[in-house]
Amino acid sequence: MKGILLHGGHGTRLRPLTHTGPKQLLPIANKPMSEYCIESMKEAGVKDIVIIIGGIGSQKVKDYYGNGEKFGVNISYIHQDFPRGISHAISLCEDFIGDEKFLVFLGDNIIQKSISVFGMEFEKSNAAASILLCEVDNPNRFGIADIKDGKIKKIVEKPKEPPTNLAVTGIYFLTPVIFDIIKRLKPSWRNELEITDALDMLLNENHIITYNMITDYWKDTGTPEDIIHANKTILENLSADFRGKMESTVSLEGNVSVGNDTLIKNEVKIKGPVIIGKNCEIYGDAIIGPNTSIGNGCIISGGKIKDSIIMDNCEIGKNVNIKNSIISSNSSIKHNNTQDEQIFLLGEGTKILF
Ligand code: DAU
Repeated sequence: MKGILLHGGHGTRLRPLTHTGPKQLLPIANKPMSEYCIESMKEAGVKDIVIIIGGIGSQKVKDYYGNGEKFGVNISYIHQDFPRGISHAISLCEDFIGDEKFLVFLGDNIIQKSISVFGMEFEKSNAAASILLCEVDNPNRFGIADIKDGKIKKIVEKPKEPPTNLAVTGIYFLTPVIFDIIKRLKPSWRNELEITDALDMLLNENHIITYNMITDYWKDTGTPEDIIHANKTILENLSADFRGKMESTVSLEGNVSVGNDTLIKNEVKIKGPVIIGKNCEIYGDAIIGPNTSIGNGCIISGGKIKDSIIMDNCEIGKNVNIKNSIISSNSSIKHNNTQDEQIFLLGEGTKILF
């Protein structure tokens, strides 16, 4: 089975984090969120993947994934001129897919469980499509499936009055029948060619769509809170792995992963789960964790950081007290004049000098 990974869009809901790059490259536990998608696809036996790029930072996606060799898959790219919808992005891949069944993965969807069984089931079935559903508390934010007697009756995008709370996740097993359907789609109220409309048209034309439920973790990382939550959830499975150097005065608790050439000294306390990248320096009376990811090359000279993501080459000074924050690369918060916990959402290269 071939695969399509959607890495386009404008990421407007995540500004300022997405002013300088695509949201799907934002790190979760120090890895771009779309890398988790590639891992899921590979694990399901999908080795030939086309990545849809477009918008800010498309080149960053190509620089990171290259031809896929480093990730054990073959990657090529298709440029989408404007985010005209998920169905539009899929339609650009008709020649790449040919007459095979295929898997589409939205690059901002994070799951933990393997999808390989669903893939195998779909390969053997005569269904035109198969989708993964997940119960949600906020069904107005998603594509929703109406199910009766174990069969999908209708699929609707972000309904005002949701018929169920079963969200259609961004993982779609499809057949080339969808290309003919997409050619006949009309843009929706948000002026996009919707995948939900394409699936609903498949149903109306008497094609079979099967479904499976995701009963454990699934997240569409549409908001900063979603990203912080995904970070926390991925870190729950972190294994302890210490490759840096540490003074005996430092205290480590729980699962902590530290990269090469990172130095931790003085009275620093780290409460796992925490992941820290390479070449960092952490000292003073800094307290880090739990549920925190620190990228490569960061200098932290004090303060408290919990439930947060600090990207590469950031500097955090004394008395800074951060929670639920996302600090993009090359940013610095020198020091703070309040002991209160603060929440920051900083775009790349932000300097806060109190
Ligand atoms: O996450 C699941 C939801 O994803 C589904 O329940 C909805 O039915 C589906 O429409 C989609 O809803 P969103 O509003 O969350 O989609 P979003 O605009 O965020 O785009 C999803 C991903 O696809 C994101 O990684 C950006 C990428 N994309 C999106 C569009 C519209 C593209 O690459 N090209 C596009 O044209």
